Amino acid sequence: MIILGIETTCDETGVGIVRDGRQILANVVASSASMHQKYGGIVPEVAARDQIRSIIPALQEVFQVSSIKYQDLDAIAVANGPGLIGSLLIGVETAKTISLVFKKPLISINHLVAHIYANWIGNRKHPSFPLIALIVSGGHTDLILMTDHKKYRWLGGTLDDAAGEAFDKVARVLGLGYPGGPEIERVAKQFTVDSLQKTVRLPRPMISDENFDFSFSGLKTAVVNTVNSSPLTVNSKAEIAYEFQNAVFDVLVTKTLKAAKKYKVKSIVVGGGVSANSALRIRMSAIGQKNKFAVFFPPKNLSVDNGVMIAAAAYYKRQSNNPLNISAVPGLYF
Ligand code: KG4
Ligand code: ZN
Repeated sequence: MIILGIETTCDETGVGIVRDGRQILANVVASSASMHQKYGGIVPEVAARDQIRSIIPALQEVFQVSSIKYQDLDAIAVANGPGLIGSLLIGVETAKTISLVFKKPLISINHLVAHIYANWIGNRKHPSFPLIALIVSGGHTDLILMTDHKKYRWLGGTLDDAAGEAFDKVARVLGLGYPGGPEIERVAKQFTVDSLQKTVRLPRPMISDENFDFSFSGLKTAVVNTVNSSPLTVNSKAEIAYEFQNAVFDVLVTKTLKAAKKYKVKSIVVGGGVSANSALRIRMSAIGQKNKFAVFFPPKNLSVDNGVMIAAAAYYKRQSNNPLNISAVPGLYF
């Protein structure tokens, strides 16, 4: 089964072609991140205008790379939410048009579900159910219990900023580039741990709470206060980045493990842009191994937004919609 996946929920234009939910035939991602650099965050109108320019060339490229033709497709899949309305409309209207012109089924996909299914792509062992999925992206931080394909139970999520959003904002405060996650990761690596030298201590919000919710806004304010308390140096920047990253990951790892134990799952699956972070990968894998949970991360380039994960999720959903009934839903949830 060959599926074309289209992703335009945020600032990327992702188009992918996937066979049977796991074999990538083509994967093209055009990002407008460089255009948002000077603002330190996404400007929705700028993102959407760039997506209008990128979508047709991206489609042309995936068909060229894969030598697949529109007629060969079994279905078209598109992320119809959650996301920015201007951006979503471009993917959704393009997918509807292709579906109608070539008379192919159209499958609407929840972007967050697709981040989970990025873990099914490639020639490797699949996660087994039940599983806990941690979605950590620029817009979301959610813990989901999945008992089977299409069976989701939302356990908790952030009450304010998403983890990726906190990375982006803290990077801005530290004078680093956008997107902030990879920048914080790079700078944090420059700090060599020496408890005698370590002077910055940030809070681990809600780490001991019984629920599965998160909060990163206070942590961000704590970083702002730390930055304002003394002039930034190369060393202090590295230490703040290191401590901030550790604080976020302490909370994410602790709560994910708590959920995995409570629901007696077999696997822990992580997805979304923050799951590209090597320190998070190392820590979550170690805690999983210690507690006998199989831990899964997508290949790093599929942690961030892409069209391939939309096609993979559609393979498991296989429930098509009338193209005329699909619409962009910015607040789409589980
Ligand atoms: O999933 P994604 O590509 O887009 C959304 O759905 O939001 O996630 C983007 C987020 C950004 O906030 C970015 O800073 C963060 O993922 N991110 C990272 C890393 N790479 C991307 N955060 C921490 N470490 C990284 N290496
Ligand atoms: Zn995403």
